[in-house]
Amino acid sequence: MPKIGVFDSGIGGLSILDEAFLQAPSHDYLYLADSVNAPYGEQSSAWVASRSLQLCSWLISQSCSAVVVACNTATAQAIDQIRKKFPQIPIIGIEPGIKPAATLSQTKKVGVLATASTLQSEKFNALLATLLGDCEFITQAGVGLVPLIETGDLQHPQLEQLLIQYINPMVQANADTLVLGCTHYPFLEPLIQKLFGLNLHVINTSSAVIKQMCRLIPEATISEPGSVTYYSTQNSAQLETLAKQLMSHQRARQVSSEMVAI
Ligand code: DGL
Repeated sequence: MPKIGVFDSGIGGLSILDEAFLQAPSHDYLYLADSVNAPYGEQSSAWVASRSLQLCSWLISQSCSAVVVACNTATAQAIDQIRKKFPQIPIIGIEPGIKPAATLSQTKKVGVLATASTLQSEKFNALLATLLGDCEFITQAGVGLVPLIETGDLQHPQLEQLLIQYINPMVQANADTLVLGCTHYPFLEPLIQKLFGLNLHVINTSSAVIKQMCRLIPEATISEPGSVTYYSTQNSAQLETLAKQLMSHQRARQVSSEMVAI
C-alpha cells in the first residue's frame, strides 16, 4: 500500500486526515505535527516556506509516495516551492473555500476566518481577486484560536469569546456563509453552530481535498484499514490521544506514535 505523508503545524491537519481515513481507508498514513512550532499563522512567509520544505523532505525520506499539506498557511506560503523541489511526488494542498462560498451565499457576503499569514499571502489574494466582482468578503485573522485548539480543550471559554469577537461582525454585516480557512477550525464547527445557529453556512474543504488526493492516488482494492503513525516534534503521546479524541474514522486502524526532532 502507498504511504501517504500528511503534515500541519499541529493537530489541525487531523481534520483532513480523518477525511482521508473515511475516503481512502486502506492507505498507510504518516501524520507529522510540528506542534513545537505552532502556531504558524503569525510567522514570516520565509520561515513558513522553509519549515514546510523541511517537513515535506522528512516525510519523503520516510518513503511517502505522496504528501498532503494539511495546512492552509503552509499551502499559501510554500506549495509552489514544494512542488518545484519534489516534482516526482503528488503534493496535495488546501486553500480556503472562497469559491464555493461565493456560489452558495445568497446575500453575496462571505466571512473568511484564516490565519494572518494565509490572509496576507499572494496566493490567497490572487484567488480573492478573481471573485471580487461577485461577492463581498469579510476577512478576519483568527489570532489566538490555534494555541487554544492545540490544548485539545474545545470547551475552553476563551474559544467562545474569540469566536464571538471574530464572527459577530460578519453576521452583523449580513454574511450568510463562513469559510473556515485553517485546518484547526473544523474542530470548532459544533461551537460555531451553537453560537451562530444553522443559518450561517460553514464551508470546510477537507472533503474536497481528499477527493483530489483519491484522484491522484487511487486505492487498488479496499481491504483492511492501513496503519497510521503520529509523529510530533513536541509530544507524540498527547498527539495520539488527541487524534483518538478528535477523529471519527480512525476505527480499527493500527496506530503508533513517535517523537521526532526535525
Ligand atoms: N492549521 C494551519 C492552517 O490551516 C496552521 C495554523 C497555525 O499554525 O497558525 O493554516
